[in-house]
Amino acid sequence: MLENPVLDPKRIPRHVAIIMDGNGRWAKQRNLPRIMGHKVGTESVKDVVKTARELNLEVLTLYAFSTENWKRPAIEVKGLMTLLKTYLKSEVQNMLENNISLRCIGEIEKLQPDVQKILTRVIRETAPKTKVKPSLTLNLALSYGSRSEIVRAARIMAEKCVSGQFDPEDFSEQLFASHLYTGGLPDPDLLIRTGGEVRLSNFLLWQLSYAELYITETMWPDFKGERFIEAIRDYQSRERRFGQTSEQLQAE
Ligand code: FPP
Repeated sequence: MLENPVLDPKRIPRHVAIIMDGNGRWAKQRNLPRIMGHKVGTESVKDVVKTARELNLEVLTLYAFSTENWKRPAIEVKGLMTLLKTYLKSEVQNMLENNISLRCIGEIEKLQPDVQKILTRVIRETAPKTKVKPSLTLNLALSYGSRSEIVRAARIMAEKCVSGQFDPEDFSEQLFASHLYTGGLPDPDLLIRTGGEVRLSNFLLWQLSYAELYITETMWPDFKGERFIEAIRDYQSRERRFGQTSEQLQAE
C-alpha cells in the first residue's frame, strides 16, 4: 500500500472509472498531431495503473475507445489501435509480475484481428489464478457503448426466457447487472473525467448510478499519479448517502 498521509486507507474506492478525454486538445495546444496526444496519454495510463495498484484499488476501468470513436478519421483510429497493441505487448510482463488482471468490455469482435489476438492473449495470460486475488483488475472499455451494452443484456435475457432458462418474473436488478459486460465487477464508486467536459458520453450508464463524479480541466496526457490521488482525496471528502439522510448515516 502506498504510504500516503493525505488519503484514508479505509476509504479507498473499490472501483474507479475514467473517461480519458483531452488528448486531441493537448496536442493541438502544442501544434502536434492528435496522435501525439494519445501517445503521451498512454504514459498517463501506465502511471495511473501503477498508482491504482499501489493504492489497493480493486478495479480500474478506462474508456479507451467508444463505439462512436469509429467515426474518427481512419488514420487516428489506426494510430489508436497501434498504440493499444504496443501498450499490451510492452505491459504484459509488468501485469504478470504485479498480479494485474486484464479484462475488457465492449464489442471486441469489431476490433481488427491482430488487436483481438493480442488482447485475448493478454486477458488469458493474466486471468486470475484460483485462490489468488488479482492486485488490480484493469478493465479496458474498447468499442464500448453503454446503450448497446444494455440492449445486448436485454437480448441475452430474452433469449434465456425463450429457451426456458428463467421466467420474466425472475428479472431483478442483480440478474440484469450480471448480464452486462461488467457482470461480476462492483459498480464504480468514482467516475473521473479529464478535459473539462461535463457529460457521460454513453459510458457505464447503468453502473454509474451511485458513483461520485469528479471532473477536472486537466487534459489526459497531463493526468498522472498525483492528479489521480487528488481525485481520490476529493472523493474521500464526499458523503455518500445512497438516498438516505445525513442523520441516518451518522446513526448507523
Ligand atoms: C479522448 O481524447 C481519448 C480517446 C478517444 C482515446 C484514449 C486513448 C488513449 C489514452 C491511449 C491508448 C489507450 C490505452 C489503454 C493504451 P480526445 O481525442 O477526444 O480529446 P479531445 O476531446 O481533446 O479531442
